[in-house]
Amino acid sequence: MDKSEAALGTGATSIPRLAWITGASSGIGRALALRLARDGWTVAASARSVDELALLAAESRGRIFPFPLDVTDKDAVNQTVQAIERNHGDIDLSVFAAGTYFRDYAVDFDSARFRTMVELNLIGTAQCLERIMPAMIARKSGQIAVVASVSGYVGLPGAASYGATKAALNVMCEALYPELRSHGVKLSIVNPGFVDTPLTRKNDFPMPFLISADEAAATIADGLAAAKYEIVFPRTMAVAMKLLHALPARLRFALTRRMLRPQA
Ligand SMILES: NC(=O)c1ccc[n+]([C@@H]2O[C@H](COP(=O)([O-])OP(=O)(O)OC[C@H]3O[C@@H](n4cnc5c(N)ncnc54)[C@H](OP(=O)(O)O)[C@@H]3O)[C@@H](O)[C@H]2O)c1
Repeated sequence: MDKSEAALGTGATSIPRLAWITGASSGIGRALALRLARDGWTVAASARSVDELALLAAESRGRIFPFPLDVTDKDAVNQTVQAIERNHGDIDLSVFAAGTYFRDYAVDFDSARFRTMVELNLIGTAQCLERIMPAMIARKSGQIAVVASVSGYVGLPGAASYGATKAALNVMCEALYPELRSHGVKLSIVNPGFVDTPLTRKNDFPMPFLISADEAAATIADGLAAAKYEIVFPRTMAVAMKLLHALPARLRFALTRRMLRPQA
C-alpha cells in the first residue's frame, strides 16, 4: 500500500490516486496540492491564474497538473472534470478550496459584494459538488472535502456576508454526509481559523492563533487520511469559536461587540 492509499485510508489496491483541488494557485489550496504530491498523489490543480498553476506544476516534479478553471462557470466546471478524467482517470479525492472574502459592515453593506461571495464560495462549490458526487456515488468510493471556515459558526462583525456563505457550506455538508456515506463516499468539512495567505494578508485587524498555509495543509491531509467529518484547526481557535457559539446570545454579543471598529 503506497502513501496515497494510506492517505486515503481505504485499503484499496489501485494506483495511482488522483486528487482534484480547486483554489490551488495560492494559499491553503496550493500548500495542500504540494503536500499531497509529496505523499505520492497525482494532483489536478484548478484556479483562474494560469501562470500561478504553471509555477505550481513546475515545483512538483511532474505530480501536479494545471487545469485552469473559474468555478463560477458551470460549463467550465463540467468540461474541466471531463478533461481531468480523460487525462488522468477517475478522481478519487476532491478538495474545494476556491473562495474569497470581503469585509463588510452594516454601514457599508453591499448586496453586490454579497452576491460575489455567494457566487464563488457557495454556488462555485455547489457546481463542483454537482459534477463530482454522481460519479463517486456510481463508483461507491471517493472522498470530498469542502473548505468553509470557523467564521461559519458565529456571526462575527465584519464577516456578515463571508460568514453567511461559510455557515451555509457547513449546513450543506451536514445534510449531504449521511447519504454520501451510505454510498461509500467520504465527505469532510474543513473549518480553518486564521491562516497566513494572500487572503488574510490584506487584513488590518488582529488574527489570533494565526498559522502557516503549510501547517493548515498538513492538518487537512491528516484529517482526510483519518476520514474525519470535521477538520477544524488550530485547536485553540476551534475551542474558542465553539464556546462562543454555545454562549447565550447576550453574552455572545457582549464579546462580538468588542470586534466592532470604532466607526462601525
Ligand atoms: N486564510 C484563512 O485564514 C482562511 C480561514 C478560513 C477559511 N479560509 C478559506 O480557505 C479557502 C482558501 O483561502 P486562502 O486563504 O488560501 O485564500 P487565497 O490564497 O486567496 O486562495 C484562494 C484561491 O481561490 C482561487 N479562486 C478565487 N476565485 C476563483 C474562481 N472564481 N474560480 C476558481 N478559483 C478561484 C484563487 O485562485 P485564482 O485567483 O487564481 O482563481 C486561489 O487559488 C477559501 O475558501 C477561504 O474562504 C481561509
